[in-house]
Amino acid sequence: MKRTLSIGILLATFSLGAVASEQETRDLIGLGALTFADNCKKCHKIDGYGEEALYPSLRNPALLANKPLLIETVLHGRSAPRRNGGEEDLMPPLEFLTDREISAIIAFITNTWGDEVIVVSEEEVKAAR
Ligand code: HEC
Repeated sequence: MKRTLSIGILLATFSLGAVASEQETRDLIGLGALTFADNCKKCHKIDGYGEEALYPSLRNPALLANKPLLIETVLHGRSAPRRNGGEEDLMPPLEFLTDREISAIIAFITNTWGDEVIVVSEEEVKAAR
């Protein structure tokens, strides 16, 4: 009897843990949707399709499976050499966003347009700064 009870408690603890982390992921995606609207939408658009010849579509599962590239692009943006010297800012660096906001944006775009949600830890974002 006692034994059954402790197994029951053990199982309950496990499933509570799983529920909490699912909720955490959902919260992160929610924050990501807001942060995307504030910082990415004006170029990549709310539907992620971007704008032909100007802003690439983010609705690209192969791109959204590339975690290091996503962290790198959001933190440091993209620039290209100009023909007459100097650099042209194609996508501005967004390193002013917090580690959590960057993790949230990546969770949001991968969950919405990728094959599976990618949850990047805040430590991983910090390490890429
Ligand atoms: C001012 C416009 C602008 C904003 C704001 C912007 N981007 Fe971009 N983004 C671009 C452009 C332009 C490129 C393509 C750069 C290039 O040609 O390499 C790009 C490229 C990317 C890529 C790589 C696409 C690929 O095919 O390699 C990703 C991912 C991306 N942006 C995500 C984001 C996210 C997430 C945000 C918000 C946090 C954001 N961008 C904000 C303009 C923008």
